[in-house]
Amino acid sequence: MGHREIYTVLHELLVSHFQKPFRMLELGCGDASFTAQALVDTNIAAYQGIDLSEVALEIAEENLAAIAIETILLKGDLSNFTNELPQNKPQQFDIIMTSFALHHLDLAQKDSVINNISNCLNPDGIFILIDVVRQENEEREAYIRRYLNDVEQRWSMITPQEYSMVENHISASDFPETQQTLRQLAAKHNFSRVECLYGDRLDTTQLLCFYR
Ligand SMILES: C[S@@+](CC[C@H](N)C(=O)[O-])C[C@H]1O[C@@H](n2cnc3c(N)ncnc32)[C@H](O)[C@@H]1O
Repeated sequence: MGHREIYTVLHELLVSHFQKPFRMLELGCGDASFTAQALVDTNIAAYQGIDLSEVALEIAEENLAAIAIETILLKGDLSNFTNELPQNKPQQFDIIMTSFALHHLDLAQKDSVINNISNCLNPDGIFILIDVVRQENEEREAYIRRYLNDVEQRWSMITPQEYSMVENHISASDFPETQQTLRQLAAKHNFSRVECLYGDRLDTTQLLCFYR
């Protein structure tokens, strides 16, 4: 998956793109441990994170304390939250990011979330999507087989019980899109271009930037 490489790319993007203070929203922030590291020595002015897990948010609070900025952490569902956002906070954020959370939604929900994100970004804002993706023309079942093959081959310490848990989780909860579908959603919701800044060796994970 390459969390370390991905978040190094994110850090470099934040440093090169934002010379002025910027405001960031993270959807499905989890414990924000990698995000907090990527934000060190950037011009971050304010951070807002939302996640379903209260435990993760408590850890996120500790992780983000190190960068000493205005921080708001909310417990909630990212779909519901983004539905209300355009009325509450139009053009409020310079960056909206989501990492390994959007693929849990179905296509209609992703469509709606990306629409709402587009309406909440500043005119020169960026939506950053870090997530698993399917290859073009790859059906979900084939993606799951490919992913689990990799787990079998590379996660050498995994026990049969742990493998079974991974298999159940992915089969029940992972609905990755192809990059082409994500580009179509971007165009539909008024993003001018999409750039892929990172793709892993196994062709399962990408960092995509959607520019207004
Ligand atoms: C795999 S973790 C990724 C955490 C973090 N973004 C990262 O990359 O390290 C996925 C996170 O998304 C959160 N999540 C999943 N579905 C969500 C939803 N509908 N609304 C809010 N958070 C959600 C989970 O609670 C979890 O913390």
